[in-house]
Amino acid sequence: MLTDRYDNPISTSSTKARDLYVTAVDKLLEGAPHIVEAFEAVVAEDPDFALGHAGLARAQQATGNATKAREIISKARELAGNATERETGHINVFDLLASGKTKDGFTAVADHVTAHPRDAMVAQTSTSIFGLIGFSGLPGREAEMLAFTSSLRPHYGDDWWFLSQYAFALCETGQVDKASAVIDRSMAINPRNAHGAHVRSHIDYEAGETLTGVSYLNNWLKDYDRSAVMHGHLSWHVALWSLQMGDTEQMWQRVDADVKPGVALGMPINILSDTASILYRAELAGETVPKEKWREVSAYASKFFPNPGLSFIDYHAALAHAMAGDSDALSKIISNPKGPAGELVRDAAEAFAAIAGQDWLKAERLLTHCMSDDARLGGSRAQRDLLEFSLLECLLKQGKTEEARRLLTLRRPVLADTHPVQGL
Ligand SMILES: [Fe+2]
Repeated sequence: MLTDRYDNPISTSSTKARDLYVTAVDKLLEGAPHIVEAFEAVVAEDPDFALGHAGLARAQQATGNATKAREIISKARELAGNATERETGHINVFDLLASGKTKDGFTAVADHVTAHPRDAMVAQTSTSIFGLIGFSGLPGREAEMLAFTSSLRPHYGDDWWFLSQYAFALCETGQVDKASAVIDRSMAINPRNAHGAHVRSHIDYEAGETLTGVSYLNNWLKDYDRSAVMHGHLSWHVALWSLQMGDTEQMWQRVDADVKPGVALGMPINILSDTASILYRAELAGETVPKEKWREVSAYASKFFPNPGLSFIDYHAALAHAMAGDSDALSKIISNPKGPAGELVRDAAEAFAAIAGQDWLKAERLLTHCMSDDARLGGSRAQRDLLEFSLLECLLKQGKTEEARRLLTLRRPVLADTHPVQGL
């Protein structure tokens, strides 16, 4: 029987289809451009290859086409009659995820990965901060992500994809030096892994290596197709560092060319969260942000995420609505927050409403409550600095400057000299 790059037997007798499948899986794992087309080539070569269809469904889901993903995974199920037990379990996982059954999906992933740890496509659903663990909304999810990736470690050796995911989990649990060594090894093996370049960026951010980071990432992005899934978010990282360096010209250039709605080609979740985040962080740093930019991102949030559903999206949408003055859209999130971290979303959303109304004490109290365990809201440490700095702003507006300085030094010491909030 033919096997994939991770030595898993696969039910195709076509060597060409196998080779195309290996390429397509690698493209998905590295965030390369044209992932959907890569899996379409697999099923064109062998239309009866069930796992090829499952991969295509996953590629559609990973690029924001949920409806297509559901249609295609049904096709994979139909073709799974002669599939191996591993392939059947693999298809079942993506069927659950395509149907939005994330809780059952994660249980299925955990069981499947225990039996088949080198099924990287399935393991991949739960390794990064945008995965099933990252978005669980549960306490301790950063440690759980590290535990999950660590459990895979004996099975992957020197694999570039695994190393990049392990490095991310290390970084987000504060093991920055160790993460740095691991990502160096990963990128030495596959320098074009966009997720790896992303992890490298987070490590540099957490280490306070602003100049090194922005230089590395600007250089790396030169050869990365703008249609690829990580382009907009990596551009956000460049914009954020540019802001830290006081280079607002480069910041706006990146935002207006690669991050905001209408120009970015990536996932709506990134377009919304990255735009809302950089606009507010620019405001906090003292930059004037035209109201029109807030209205644009608020309208985008209402269009793509009309109903609350995922904490990470909802609290960024709330920020956009509050700053744009769309009280109806904001009320919808406050009155009906969804998911396990819903109560924290309500706190954050009400805090942004209070900030927009310049009720700094109310906003301070709400943010303080929300940030008792803000990792549950999802996203990276770098992304959650939005909340950290919002709280500092509330303190400064009330004249509590020493308290703000102490808080920054206590919670984000590496960023203490980056002047994230004007007047600090
Ligand atoms: Fe990031």
